[in-house]
Amino acid sequence: MLFVEDSSEIIKVENLTKFFGDFAAVKEVSFEVERGEIFGILGPNGAGKTTLIKMLSTLLKPTSGKALVAGYDVVKEPQNVRKSIGIVFQEPTLDVELTARENLDFHGRIYGMDGKKRRERISEVLELVGLSDKADILVKKFSGGMQRRLEIARGFMHFPKVLFLDEPTLGLDVQTRRNIWEYIEKLRRDEDVTIILTTHYIEEAENLCDRVAIIDLGRIIALDTVERLREGIGKDSIEVVVENGSVFENLLKSQNLKVVKTADGLMISASDGEKLIPRLFSLAQKHRIEIHSVSLKKSSLEDVFVLLTGRKIREESAAMHPMMRIKRMRK
Ligand SMILES: Nc1ncnc2c1ncn2[C@@H]1O[C@H](COP(=O)(O)OP(=O)(O)O)[C@@H](O)[C@H]1O
Ligand SMILES: [Mg+2]
Repeated sequence: MLFVEDSSEIIKVENLTKFFGDFAAVKEVSFEVERGEIFGILGPNGAGKTTLIKMLSTLLKPTSGKALVAGYDVVKEPQNVRKSIGIVFQEPTLDVELTARENLDFHGRIYGMDGKKRRERISEVLELVGLSDKADILVKKFSGGMQRRLEIARGFMHFPKVLFLDEPTLGLDVQTRRNIWEYIEKLRRDEDVTIILTTHYIEEAENLCDRVAIIDLGRIIALDTVERLREGIGKDSIEVVVENGSVFENLLKSQNLKVVKTADGLMISASDGEKLIPRLFSLAQKHRIEIHSVSLKKSSLEDVFVLLTGRKIREESAAMHPMMRIKRMRK
């Protein structure tokens, strides 16, 4: 053990880096996670989320840097790390030809739990994810949401200190997603576990996570509580579409406004958006710039990402994830 049992940080990451050939998928990432937190890693597809989770769970060796999970070094003490963690992968890994109980039982055996303990724990975890009455049904008869819940149950079957959830609600509908969030919250309440989850869904990070690291192109570009991340850019977000975007952008910047050019127009962050709108119009008028449209909304983590990168999280992921693409085409 490198730090004492009651230390508040259960995960410590320092300059963690992963190269695939000469491509850096994760670049000098550093952060700490407190015991009992739900910590989110939010970023578009390809940002490096899965690579990061794989390094923390010892499935991938870092190129450089250091990570301690539950007090153990992921490179020097991988066995101890593995005993301390549970993982739910992005891709489903249940045996669909077995029942829910059989899947959990198999997992318990791998972790060396004796028969009595397995039986007790299976009842407990099934209860926690609301599947008690489905224990003896074949997993292939489960809906997508039920399968996810079972995977989460399996992830914490062996009393892990840390549970990694890689895109836990990927491809699920909104209703099912909310339902899974409730179970994740319950899990945190009822079990002594720290949860690290990755997601590219803004709502998931905003609703579920205590703190969020926003990751893009392998780097953490912001990290704080959801509230502070939002407040940091101003509570309102205004999107303006104008005739001459670049000129207007420079004009706004010269007024010390937080503005960024996106694919759709200009995004401006402000603490009092309603008061800013008339100012935008008079500024545009003065410089003979035509405003096509203006919209005002409460700022979200999406806006934090847009302001930092000029891109949106969602569009990219929707464009790149095949499952999402099919859904879009069907509309
Ligand atoms: N085994 C690998 N070999 C080469 N490139 C990889 C490998 N795994 C991931 N990558 C690349 O690393 C980047 C990050 O991938 P990943 O961690 O899966 O991102 P995310 O989970 O955020 O979608 C992507 O550009 C991906 O193509
Ligand atoms: Mg991934």
